Amino acid sequence: MSIVINRVPATIVVAVARNGVIGRDNTLPWKLSSDLQRFKRLTMGHALIMGRKTYESIGRPLPGRTTVVLSRAAKELQSAYELANAETAKQVAPEKPTSGKPAPKLLFCEHFHDALTQLPQGIHPFVVGGSQIYELTLPLVNRIWLTRVLADVHGDAHMPHWPSPASAAPWPPGQWKLTYQETVPVGPKDDWPTCFEEWIAE
Ligand SMILES: NC(=O)c1ccc[n+]([C@@H]2O[C@H](COP(=O)([O-])OP(=O)(O)OC[C@H]3O[C@@H](n4cnc5c(N)ncnc54)[C@H](OP(=O)(O)O)[C@@H]3O)[C@@H](O)[C@H]2O)c1
Repeated sequence: MSIVINRVPATIVVAVARNGVIGRDNTLPWKLSSDLQRFKRLTMGHALIMGRKTYESIGRPLPGRTTVVLSRAAKELQSAYELANAETAKQVAPEKPTSGKPAPKLLFCEHFHDALTQLPQGIHPFVVGGSQIYELTLPLVNRIWLTRVLADVHGDAHMPHWPSPASAAPWPPGQWKLTYQETVPVGPKDDWPTCFEEWIAE
C-alpha cells in the first residue's frame, strides 16, 4: 500500500551551487545581490519559515515579513523571546490587504503544519532553509523557487537529494513541472551568474 501525502500551498526558496552546496559555517557561501533583491520583492508581506540555525545566522526577523522559526525547543524559545522583548514582540508585520488579522513578527513552532495554521489568510508561507528544513518540507510543499548558482562552491551544508555530478538524475526529485526559467548574468554585486527556476508539483 502506498502512502499519499497531500502537498500544501507553500514555496521552497533556495539557492544551490552546481555541486549541491547551500551554506558554509552557518552562513551563505556567496554574495548574490540580484538574487537577494528578487527574494525580498517576492516574499515581502508574507511569511518566512526557517530552521533555528538559519534564524541564528540571520540574527533577527526580516523586515516586513512574519518570521517563523522551527525548533524542537519552540516553547522555550518563544517564552525567552517574549520575556526579552516584552514590548517589541507585540509589533506586527504589515498586514496583507487580503488578511483578516495582523500577522506576528516572529513565531517559534515545533511543527511545520502548526506554523501554517498560525498564519493569517492571505499570507503565503515561504520555506527558506536550511538543509534540515528543506529535507523536512520537500515532500510537503507544492512549489519551488530554485536559484541555480552556476559554479561549484566550497561548503558544509547541502541541498537534500541533490544528484552527484556523475548522475543524470533531475532535481527536484519526483513529479515536478518546470514552469519558468530565467538566466541571470553576473551583476556588479554578484559572485556568480545564476539561473532562476519555478517548479510546480504535479
Ligand atoms: N542557499 C540557501 O538558499 C540557503 C537558505 C537558508 C539557509 N542556508 C544555509 O543552510 C545552513 C543551515 O542549515 P542547517 O541544516 O544546518 O540548519 P537549519 O535547517 O537552518 O536549522 C536546523 C534546526 O531546525 C530545527 N529542526 C530541524 N528539523 C526539525 C523538525 N523536524 N521539527 C522541528 N524543528 C526542526 C532544529 O532546531 P533545534 O536544534 O532548536 O531543535 C535544527 O537544529 C546555513 O549554512 C545557512 O546559511 C542556505
